Amino acid sequence: MNPTKGALRYEGKAKKVYETEDQQYFIVSYKTDATAFDGKKKGSIDGKDRVNNLMSAKLFQVLEAEGIRTHFEKVLDDHEMLVKRLKIIPVEVIVRNLAAGGMAKKLGLEEGTALFKPVVEYCLKSDELSDPMINEDHIAVLKLASEEEITKIKEMALKINEVLRGFFEKRELTLVDFKLEFGRFDGDVILGDEISPDTCRLWDRKTGERLDKDRFRRDLGLVEESYQEVLKRVLA
Ligand SMILES: Nc1ncnc2c1ncn2[C@@H]1O[C@H](COP(=O)(O)OP(=O)(O)OP(=O)(O)O)[C@@H](O)[C@H]1O
Ligand SMILES: [Mg+2]
Repeated sequence: MNPTKGALRYEGKAKKVYETEDQQYFIVSYKTDATAFDGKKKGSIDGKDRVNNLMSAKLFQVLEAEGIRTHFEKVLDDHEMLVKRLKIIPVEVIVRNLAAGGMAKKLGLEEGTALFKPVVEYCLKSDELSDPMINEDHIAVLKLASEEEITKIKEMALKINEVLRGFFEKRELTLVDFKLEFGRFDGDVILGDEISPDTCRLWDRKTGERLDKDRFRRDLGLVEESYQEVLKRVLA
């Protein structure tokens, strides 16, 4: 049975979230809108709604098969999926395998510097504060998640990294870094949001070419083509 789309519950920069007739589920509708630098740069990427929907769906299924619980239920059409309705924990969880972006800049490292173990970072989801980096103590004192939850989240993030790194490597892509969001469902913490070229840095293994949202952020051209190339490899 296909769910019917109810009231628009949130509209974010990348997705719309709709209620369904069932309290336990939401419909996520991906947008072509693209933003960067706290929304200061705005644009759109043709076909991004389909790429991010179908890529997220595939990766959520890969993770489920490895025993990681996700919000994914099913694909509804090219740009929409049915998901479990989570109470999102307002913390962005970033996992890094190579230094790039904010970390390279902050620590004065050359982009592409290998890290001998994955680095996990947390940022508070707050547009007003521009998503500041926080640590596990901040998460505890702000009561964003319990200590047990944050331990579980870190464990899941590292396991997800291992699974995705292997998955992308087989497709000639280096998983440089990525951002995750987790939420509560049924007394458990599970993976939500999306896994896409908007939320991952993916470099071609041979040429080092960037095939992710940095093409949009840094005006590198071939933005649409790069998103399509990533989806092609993910579905191959
Ligand atoms: N399964 C889910 N249940 C409830 N909310 C979800 C679920 N998956 C994702 N969300 C939330 O949907 C919202 C819309 O997503 P989108 O990526 O467009 O937001 P955004 O513009 O990045 O803004 P922000 O993440 O800062 O709210 C986000 O707040 C995200 O946390
Ligand atoms: Mg988002």
